[in-house]
Amino acid sequence: MEKFVITGGNKLNGEVSISGAKNAAVAIIPAVVLSDGICRIENVPNIADVSIMASILEAMGANIKRINKSTLEIDPRGIKNPVASYELVRHMRASYYLLGALLGKFNSAEVAMPGGCDFGVRPIDLHLKGFEALGADYSITNGGMICVKTDKLVGNHVYMDVVSVGATMNIMLAAVKAEGKTVIENAAKEPHIVDLANFLNSMGADVRGAGTDVIKISGVKALNGSTYSIIPDQIEAGTYMAAAAATGGDVLIKNVITKHLESITAKLREMGVEVEEYDDAVRVKRTGELNHCNIITMPHPGFPTDMQPQMAAVLIKAKGTSIVRESVWDNRFRYVDELRRMGAKISVNDKTAVIEGVSELNASPLKSTDLRAGAAMIIAALTANGTSYIEDIKYIERGYEDVVEKFRNIGADIKRIKTNEPGSQSATA
Ligand code: UD1
Repeated sequence: MEKFVITGGNKLNGEVSISGAKNAAVAIIPAVVLSDGICRIENVPNIADVSIMASILEAMGANIKRINKSTLEIDPRGIKNPVASYELVRHMRASYYLLGALLGKFNSAEVAMPGGCDFGVRPIDLHLKGFEALGADYSITNGGMICVKTDKLVGNHVYMDVVSVGATMNIMLAAVKAEGKTVIENAAKEPHIVDLANFLNSMGADVRGAGTDVIKISGVKALNGSTYSIIPDQIEAGTYMAAAAATGGDVLIKNVITKHLESITAKLREMGVEVEEYDDAVRVKRTGELNHCNIITMPHPGFPTDMQPQMAAVLIKAKGTSIVRESVWDNRFRYVDELRRMGAKISVNDKTAVIEGVSELNASPLKSTDLRAGAAMIIAALTANGTSYIEDIKYIERGYEDVVEKFRNIGADIKRIKTNEPGSQSATA
């Protein structure tokens, strides 16, 4: 078991390069199953969620070569049996994409109920409703396997009651080879939805409208191999932007799509942080005090829920009172108890957090409760007096490539140690 040791007080300074988007990669890798040829996927983030997804495909018979740190070559032709085992699948939420991809390829899929970060009830009813609309039946076994099957998938109109990223992508995966036309109404518009559509089209699919709330898919008979580069990770970029702002630093964040960062940029500017936009980089710099601001999370292009904890960690030391409202997930403030122990003044009522800015934070032993909560704890620890320890870093490493190295390169005092190393038990203020 390992933990992070972070001594606060350093202003972050320098350049950091953003990796490929986790939430695009975990959909695009299973999407390769639909292809009749080899796919070369570039700009793949080197993170645990990607390794797990690759292992699931390998266990099913795919042949995967790691060409270099960020390029995978995937040959799905060895997959003959559309069954994904419980052991690997239970570790990640995004394993639900195997349902759509296997169903689209084999007219049948058996995948264990997904695991992943726990921030409230995470149903998949909309995914299953979408598959049903395309003509599939589903059942859930006592052992927690979801079985979906059909004789033939046929395109249809699918209206999403709730805007869901996962359901939108899963229905796209199931529909690309269905007979006729599928129209997804009230579709999610996140950047990784556009990325998945672009990847599917690079294999010969006919997906139009991704990035708007109506996606039209005309089924094709077969998909070929392709070479595709994944978009940069919006949330990883946002996390370094938040960290630069929180520490009063000056950081150039490279390999980003600035358009994807607009909602984060807008909030940081409201807080008095300078954000300069370049073609594929943003420079985040703060010299003055942080101002309070209010944030409400929304589906894209609203403020991303996956940046909510990190921005709350910045607002802890802002002047005045900020209100953060979570409108996507039911229970995404579990990290607040950890930040309170550092001296943060945050009260939570249902899905709203009220943050009274404080001038000092004290180091503390912390436990990462989920991926983005862990990122928020890194940010808080970087601005605290003394040395903090963050446990359960496996959550953080699920989604951030080389997180220690990247933060160290921009001046953070952060290292990874074994849990039982001497002096690893306490925090010093
Ligand atoms: C994805 C992201 C996650 C992010 C979330 C919202 C991945 C692997 N994960 O999760 O990091 O926080 O988008 O941007 O990409 N819902 C239903 N029924 C369903 C599906 C969802 O009611 O069948 C509800 C959920 O409870 C939630 C809302 O819809 O309140 C949004 O969830 P969704 O967009 O589906 O999130 P995920 O795709 O699971």
